[in-house]
Amino acid sequence: MTAPPPDHTDRTDQDPPRTEAGSPQIDEPPSAVWDRRYAAHPLSRQEAWLSGWQHRLPGVRRALDIGCGDGWETAALLELGVDVTGIDISAEALARCRRQSPRARHLLADVRTMPMLRDGEFDLAVAQLSLHYFDREDTRRALCEIARVLAPDGKLIGCVNAEDDWHYGAPDDASSWALTPVDGVAKQFFTRAKLEEVLSACFEIEHLDKRTLSRYGKPKSVWEFFCRRKRDHGEADPLPSPAIGP
Ligand SMILES: C[S@@+](CC[C@H](N)C(=O)[O-])C[C@H]1O[C@@H](n2cnc3c(N)ncnc32)[C@H](O)[C@@H]1O
Repeated sequence: MTAPPPDHTDRTDQDPPRTEAGSPQIDEPPSAVWDRRYAAHPLSRQEAWLSGWQHRLPGVRRALDIGCGDGWETAALLELGVDVTGIDISAEALARCRRQSPRARHLLADVRTMPMLRDGEFDLAVAQLSLHYFDREDTRRALCEIARVLAPDGKLIGCVNAEDDWHYGAPDDASSWALTPVDGVAKQFFTRAKLEEVLSACFEIEHLDKRTLSRYGKPKSVWEFFCRRKRDHGEADPLPSPAIGP
């Protein structure tokens, strides 16, 4: 089995320090880093993570795969007879997704702003490991943009780095919203409290639990969630005060 492009590193003392002000020092735009990672790795082979959620997806006809990467979730959704749009900031990722799932629609887009997508266009949004690159404000922005393109009652399924994702760059203390640079990309590590706060602005959380993924070779700790768009999600509420506990 070929490993997917790594989004990880073992934690080392050489990791640059985090900055409380927000973004750590990163030299390149993330799209360039992802393009390079994808170009350097053969197409991964993995079981679509979504398969464990199929029982919660009856009636889904139109889905958005956010940060589609190689497109394993896109392919799994197409097999279920769902129309799929895959978005990614990496042109290289989209080319790979297109190669294995030519029937999907592929768009170069950033999840934080998707003006090319209509309000209520999708029944389902899938975000596997693609929403943990932002500070607090941008995470909320991304989630509310996803809510905008979901139909009333539309579902969001995803997973993000957990605070104890030690093999892949988690800092000693992830209770603040500071980003951590890992292999040239700024990453967010979520505590339950942080994730609940941002999800609940636009979604009803039906499931939120920790899980260990084994796809990268070493155990990867993630929070997995299943949510429904709030009927009256509107604009995001103003951000509450920044004190966040573990
Ligand atoms: C860890 S990979 C996961 C890929 C795929 N979902 C999977 O599980 O195999 C993260 C993906 O998110 C994409 N990504 C990062 N930031 C993004 C953003 N702001 N908007 C859309 N996609 C983004 C990256 O280009 C990359 O393809």
